[in-house]
Amino acid sequence: MPSVSNPPSLAVVGAGDRGNAYARFALEHPERLRIAAVAEPDPVRRERFAALHRIPAAAVFADWRELLDGPPLADGLLVATQDSGHLEPALAALGRGYRLLLEKPMALDEASCRAIVDESERTGNEVVVCHVLRHSSFWRAIRRALDEGLIGELVSIEHAENVSYWHMAHSYVRGNWGRTGDSSPMILAKCSHDFDLLRWYSGAPPVTLASVGGLHEFRPEKAPPGAPGRCTDGCPAAASCPYEATRLYLRGEPLLRDAAQGGGAAGFGARFILRHPRFAALVPGLEAYAPSRGWPVSTITADLSDAGILEALGTGPYGRCVYRARSDQVDHQQTVVEFANGVTASLTMQGHSHREGRTVRLDGTRGTIRGIFAGRGELEVIDHRTGRKARLPVTGDPLGHGEADRALMDAFARFLSGGAPPTLVSESLDSHLMAFAAHRSRTERQMVRFDGISRKTSKTDGSGLD
Ligand SMILES: NC(=O)c1ccc[n+]([C@@H]2O[C@H](COP(=O)([O-])OP(=O)(O)OC[C@H]3O[C@@H](n4cnc5c(N)ncnc54)[C@H](O)[C@@H]3O)[C@@H](O)[C@H]2O)c1
Repeated sequence: MPSVSNPPSLAVVGAGDRGNAYARFALEHPERLRIAAVAEPDPVRRERFAALHRIPAAAVFADWRELLDGPPLADGLLVATQDSGHLEPALAALGRGYRLLLEKPMALDEASCRAIVDESERTGNEVVVCHVLRHSSFWRAIRRALDEGLIGELVSIEHAENVSYWHMAHSYVRGNWGRTGDSSPMILAKCSHDFDLLRWYSGAPPVTLASVGGLHEFRPEKAPPGAPGRCTDGCPAAASCPYEATRLYLRGEPLLRDAAQGGGAAGFGARFILRHPRFAALVPGLEAYAPSRGWPVSTITADLSDAGILEALGTGPYGRCVYRARSDQVDHQQTVVEFANGVTASLTMQGHSHREGRTVRLDGTRGTIRGIFAGRGELEVIDHRTGRKARLPVTGDPLGHGEADRALMDAFARFLSGGAPPTLVSESLDSHLMAFAAHRSRTERQMVRFDGISRKTSKTDGSGLD
């Protein structure tokens, strides 16, 4: 039985961005969790991760199959490979007796997601899907307000995932998710978190769903006259095109504009750099507020110098004209869902927002909750009878990934120590089924009726089961 001197252990499959982000919890709280094994094909990532977590050589592997070939090396296992690499290690790990922490999406189609749920039921090993927003204080504050009856009975939800125009171009036009066939429909890749929130707030499984949308902008016929295949090949529309690649990857202008809307020194620094780009380089200390060359620049090249970035734009996918990148993802999609208890919800996903962020509105019989999950975050409740508005405190750093990642790991470590799982895999399945149904409804222009999906619902505070 795990204890303070003998904390529960976790094996990590995929020591990339997410694998490292979750494993950090064990470094910060060694008394709560120990990383006992890793599988990672990239030798640099593998060795760095093994050294960081002091994993003995016998528990370091180049592939998840080797890790899962022998007896269990840990109490739990995290699958943090890319989307198409979740299903196989998830099934194998459940069969080997591991409790699973599984990155979203669970898998790329409905049958595979159901296979994971079936294997979890067959083996009795629970699967916790990394729907991190449930663990963020912003979204938890909404759930608490519902539980406390601040808006009476929930009737309808209006939720939007506003993807910024440059993030859309980076990930869903030029980048890894540009082609549905090579990755997954954007509604699954981007919105399984959002469907999960709708499922959590409604407190019931979905019964019907309809979805419409399409690709409006990133088509060859929309290319400016004379635009070459790459931004770096002298495009005549460079000055007016919001997608011109050097502006994002070399100068970080969109990121600066986002930062400029914030307060404090960071907001001031970003505003100054935007207004006086030449002068800014001469002001000591101001470089701290220049956009970092982390994501999205780190996705396009390992050489983060100006020359390295220009080389990547001149040769790789991220320098391509967005109109000629052959993306087949949607750039706007709207979905409506009816839940079994009569609550209805709409979800707008669109890739033309001036800034990244989610917005939400929940209307109940006694009040309304309005939230903006962007910038510093805003959340308020308005009472129908008195008209009084009350701000719900948004604490910590709810908009960064860090807070929610830590809270998820805290809950998973508690689960490995004998507590209840923080979420039910059957509910996570519902959110994926909604995403698949939205894709089907949009492409087949049909309303989808759900049948035979789970009726299990976790306790509304997300901290256990009923
Ligand atoms: N929950 C969230 O909010 C959230 C946020 C971002 C990404 N994601 C998801 O997390 C997953 C991982 O994303 P990432 O950005 O960390 O990707 P990544 O590419 O940085 O990491 C994936 C790692 O898996 C490794 N890998 C590949 N094949 C392997 C094998 N056979 N055995 C073991 N390891 C193998 C790769 O070498 C890589 O290091 C994706 O499915 C992504 O959609 C979730």
